[in-house]
Amino acid sequence: MTEWQKSGWRAKPRVQMPDYMDQAKLEAVEAQLSKYPPLVFAGEARKLKKALGAASRGDAFLLQGGDCAEAFDQFSANAIRDTFKVMLQMAMVLTFGAKVPVVKVGRMAGQFAKPRSAPTEVVDGVELPSYRGDIINELAFTPDARIPDPAKMLQAYTQAAATLNLLRAFSTGGYADVHQVHQWTLGFTDREESEKYRDMANRIGDTLDFMKAAGLDSDREPSLQTVDFYTSHESLLLEYEEALTRQDSTSGKWLAGSGHMIWIGDRTRQPDGAHVEFARGVLNPVGLKCGPTTTAEDLKVLMSKLNPENEAGKLTLIARFGAGKVGEHLPRLIKAVAEEGANVTWVCDPMHGNTIKSSTGYKTRPFESVLREVKEFFAIHNAEGTVPGGVHFEMTGQDVTECTGGVRAVSEENLSDRYHTACDPRLNASQSLELAFLVAEELTSRREAQVASKAG
Ligand code: PEP
Ligand code: CO
Repeated sequence: MTEWQKSGWRAKPRVQMPDYMDQAKLEAVEAQLSKYPPLVFAGEARKLKKALGAASRGDAFLLQGGDCAEAFDQFSANAIRDTFKVMLQMAMVLTFGAKVPVVKVGRMAGQFAKPRSAPTEVVDGVELPSYRGDIINELAFTPDARIPDPAKMLQAYTQAAATLNLLRAFSTGGYADVHQVHQWTLGFTDREESEKYRDMANRIGDTLDFMKAAGLDSDREPSLQTVDFYTSHESLLLEYEEALTRQDSTSGKWLAGSGHMIWIGDRTRQPDGAHVEFARGVLNPVGLKCGPTTTAEDLKVLMSKLNPENEAGKLTLIARFGAGKVGEHLPRLIKAVAEEGANVTWVCDPMHGNTIKSSTGYKTRPFESVLREVKEFFAIHNAEGTVPGGVHFEMTGQDVTECTGGVRAVSEENLSDRYHTACDPRLNASQSLELAFLVAEELTSRREAQVASKAG
């Protein structure tokens, strides 16, 4: 393979990227971004890689979640706090159930660019280019709004920097202290899953009291006072990614400075395409979406390109087949991984294979399908003797009505009440927590089965 360069993707076929009309403006924006500080550092990306390596062996579990698309007009401290809070709650539920550390990675601080199923959109007989995320063009259905504007990359960078700044403050400034486990329930109304959560919070509180009584001062234990929270996004807009790529001074390797982890989407994973070319050269952990059309042959090529040294934690395979289809696709890809002896972390994205159009015209995802895909993912790994290493959700801390179902059932008629997503439908806070309890149950029964088989 030829020596990697951060601009090498430019010589490869590209899909799902905008054609900017004003080249001079594009180049000026790229030049400006190249001078800005990176958002993350190499040491952090390495630490995440190590944690994902633990997840690949079942010694940790990945919780990756956040918006389908971050939006400029939904940017607020409260929205960031609420998503962060729900992720902490989910992580607590998972840690408690799985008895392993939970690796927390937000689809945040950079998740702005979207691949689309069609290049144009028709409304009432009018055809316009598709909306591709706030970093590229605007959602409003007018010809001007849909023109890709390179300057939006600067606004995205600014929003990502401010988001990450707040996330770092929440992670280490006291908010994420485990002694706050009760405080995070504020805002809950009486619902079944909030009851379950309070119950768990009480048991954690008791444990902390016990530790204190026994002379272990948990108030002074840094691992209980702060969390490691990482950021991730789809590496789609390669001009932005390249402009934020920096050489790590200690190792000489290249870092995608736009976020701790980047992933390649289901529509841009062509083995000889631009997106794979960019991702293969960075030291960050890389995710690869695997869908029903991923062939074993392609997967083998992709694994060797994206993880040439076969490092644990370097490559995360994010399976997104759709409920009812996991049994058809996951085993054949697990077999391909085994045939190569490849190190991968298997993660379940039960969102992107389950998108449907509701009778009321909204894009939605039935909560039942989401649950079912997660269960199928666990069942296959349990049967194959492989490791389910994590989950990947589109979710928000806001009380939206975008996915149908859940304990506080959202119906197709309710979808219009609070449908705010800039792209795909997200789980709301209540649905997210419900799902975390289900995943915790799956992890618990897996652990019990392993203990039983060792004892037997
Ligand atoms: C996404 O994660 O928002 C996405 C578009 O996923 P996929 O590439 O799996 O369709
Ligand atoms: Co999405």
